[in-house]
Amino acid sequence: MADNFTSLQIENRVFKPAKDFSARAHIKSFAQYKKLYNESIKSPDKFWAREAKNELVWFKPWKKVLDWKPPFAKWFVGGQLNVSHNCLDKWLGTATANKAAIIWEGEPAAPGKPGEERTLTYKQLHHEVCLFANVLKKHGIKKGDRILIYLPMVVEAAVAMLACTRIGAVHSVVFGGFSAQSVADRVFDSQAKMIITADGGFRRGAVVPLKKNVDDAFPLNDAHGNPLTKTIEKVIVLRRAGNEVTFQPGRDLWWHEEVATVDAKCPAEKMDSEAPLFILYTSGSTGKPKGILHTTAGYLLGAKMTSKYVFDLRDEDVYWCTADIGWVTGHSYVVYGPLANGATSLMYEGAPNFPEPDRFWRIIAKYGVTILYTAPTAIRAFMKWGDQWPKKHDLSSLRLLGTVGEPINPEAWMWYHTVIGKKRCPIVDTWWQTETGGIMITPLPGATPTKPGTATLPFFGIVPEVVDDQGQAVPRNSGGKLVIRKPWPSMLRGLWGDEKRYKEVYWSEVPGSYFTGDGCRQDKDGYFWIVGRIDDVLNVAGHRIGTAEVESALVSNSKVAEAAVVGRPDALKGQALVAFVTLKTGITPNQAIRDELRNHVAKEIGPVAKPDDIRFAEALPKTRSGKIMRRLLKQVASGTEIKGDTTTLEDLNVLTKIGSADD
Ligand code: WTA
Repeated sequence: MADNFTSLQIENRVFKPAKDFSARAHIKSFAQYKKLYNESIKSPDKFWAREAKNELVWFKPWKKVLDWKPPFAKWFVGGQLNVSHNCLDKWLGTATANKAAIIWEGEPAAPGKPGEERTLTYKQLHHEVCLFANVLKKHGIKKGDRILIYLPMVVEAAVAMLACTRIGAVHSVVFGGFSAQSVADRVFDSQAKMIITADGGFRRGAVVPLKKNVDDAFPLNDAHGNPLTKTIEKVIVLRRAGNEVTFQPGRDLWWHEEVATVDAKCPAEKMDSEAPLFILYTSGSTGKPKGILHTTAGYLLGAKMTSKYVFDLRDEDVYWCTADIGWVTGHSYVVYGPLANGATSLMYEGAPNFPEPDRFWRIIAKYGVTILYTAPTAIRAFMKWGDQWPKKHDLSSLRLLGTVGEPINPEAWMWYHTVIGKKRCPIVDTWWQTETGGIMITPLPGATPTKPGTATLPFFGIVPEVVDDQGQAVPRNSGGKLVIRKPWPSMLRGLWGDEKRYKEVYWSEVPGSYFTGDGCRQDKDGYFWIVGRIDDVLNVAGHRIGTAEVESALVSNSKVAEAAVVGRPDALKGQALVAFVTLKTGITPNQAIRDELRNHVAKEIGPVAKPDDIRFAEALPKTRSGKIMRRLLKQVASGTEIKGDTTTLEDLNVLTKIGSADD
C-alpha cells in the first residue's frame, strides 16, 4: 500500500470531490446538495411531487403525496403505475431499447477462463419478461398472489422478479444459500402459491441443489401442521446446472417448456401506488425472520433516485453491484434502480475468488466496468489476498466506487481508494437497510467531501438523528441510537401479516420515530458514523443474522439443552458468530458434536449462519430473573476481561466453567 496511515490520521482526512468529476455530475456542488436537501425537508410534498412526476411514468396521477398516520404511511395516494413498465416499456422506442440492460457473466470453469456470458438489451429483456409473465398468468397467478423466487444469480432471476411486477404478483426472493427449512418458513408466512427455482446453481465449482432443497421443504410443516402443498400449486424449474432432479407430475414444470407455450404480448397491469410489490425476509432480534413489505410507487422512486444521484448514473456507464438478488441490495441496485434509469447492470454468478482471487478485476477489465458497488468484507478479503491480483488487470475504466452492508474500516477504505480507485475514483459509503428500501445516508459523489469510515450525510428527504434512551438528540460526538424522524417514500410499509410486531420493533423504542437498530455518532461536521447493531442482530460478512434464530436452530438439535449466540469482532467478516451451548445431561462435549451442531445450523438456516465457534458450558450465566447475560458472554467470546456488575449472577462459578473454543 502506498499510504500507511493509522486509523486516527485517516479519520481526520477529508477527500474533496475532484473538479472534473463534479463538473459532469448530476449534483455538482455541496451547495447544490444542501439547497435540494433543505427543500426536501422544508417542503416535502412539493419536492416529492416534482420528483415523482419527473422520474416515473404514471398511468394515473396521484391525489395526495403523503397520507401519514404514524406509523403507517401511504405515498402518492390514488396514483397508478407499473414497475416493469417503468423499467422496460418506458425505454422501447428510444435509443435505450437496443442498449444492454443486463450483462451477465457466469461462474468460470477454470483459472484464466472467462465465464459463460449473456447480454440482454432492454428490448430483449422486455420480451423475456412478457413471456414469463404470461406463463404466470397461464397458471392462474393473479394480482396480489405471492411467489417465492429461489434462483441462482442468473438473468432469469431478474426476469422472474420483473414478470411478477408486470402482473401485480408479489415476489419474495429467497437467497440461494438458504436451506429447505428457510424456504418452507417463507412459504408458510407468505402463503405463496408458486415457487420459481432452478435444478441447481454453481458456487465455487460445486452445484447448489436448489430444486432438491425445494423438494425437501415439501414434507415440512408449519406450526399448525400444514405442509407446503397447502398453498404451493406449481413449481417452475429453470434448467441451469444440468444436474439430475426429480419431478412431481402436475406440480413441477420446466421454465423452457412453459415459455414455449405462450406469446409475448402482455400489457403491464395498472397497479395502485400502495400495491404490495415484494416481501423480503430479514433477521430481527427475536423469532423467525420478518417479512419486510415494500409497495410500488414509493419504493421505485427511492430506488430510482438513489441510483441516479448516489451512483451518478450516466448513459455510458457499465454499472456493477456485486450483491446477490437474494438480498435487498440486489433488489434495489442490481434490478430496479439501474433498470428504471435505463442503465447497464452487470450480474455475476460466482464467488470473488473462484477459480482465482482476481475474478472481480478480470470482469472489470473485460467489460469496462465504470462503477463498482460491493461490501467491506469483500474489500478486506481482497486486501488479504494481495495487491498482485488487481494489479494484473486494467482498472482504468472505473470512475466511482461504492460500499454497503457494514461499517468500512478506514484502512479498507484507503486500500479501496488507492489500489482499486487509483486515488481517482470517489467512494460512496452507503448506509441503509432492507427496511429502508433504498440508500439513506451517503455522500453524493460530485458534491460531498468524504472521510474514510463514514457514510457522511442524509439523502434527500431523510431526517436521521442520534438520540439517547429518552429519545432526545445527543450532542455532537456522543454515541446514541440512530433513528429516522420523518417518513420517506421507500420505507417499509409493514411486516407481512404482523402489524403488532411492526409497531413494536420499529416504532416503540423511540416513540414517533423509526428505530434503525444501529448505534451511531455524529462528528463535528454532522457526519454520521455508524457503529453497528445495538440489538441482538449480528452483521457477519455483511449478512444480517439474528442471534435468536441461530439459538433456536441449535436447541432444535436433540443433544442441546440451551444455547446463547453472541458476536465477536472479526478482522475479515466484521463480526463472527460464537455459540455457547449446554448439552443435555449425560452428553459429553467433543469435536464431533461441535461439527454436528455447526452442520445442523447450516441445514436449519443456511451456511451463512454457521457458528464460527461453538463453546460448551455446564450452564449459561443468568440474571436472577433467568435472563442470559449476553454482555458477559460477549466479553468471554472476544477474549476480553470480564468487567461490570456481576452481582446478579445466579452462579458466579459458571463463568469459570465455560470451555474454550478448542477444548
Ligand atoms: C448495516 C443492507 C455501516 C447496518 C443494505 C444496517 C451498514 C444493516 C452500512 C442493514 C454502512 C448497512 N455502514 N453499517 N454503509 N450499510 N449497514 O438489511 O447495521 O441487510 O442496520 O441491508 O447493515 O442490513 P440489511
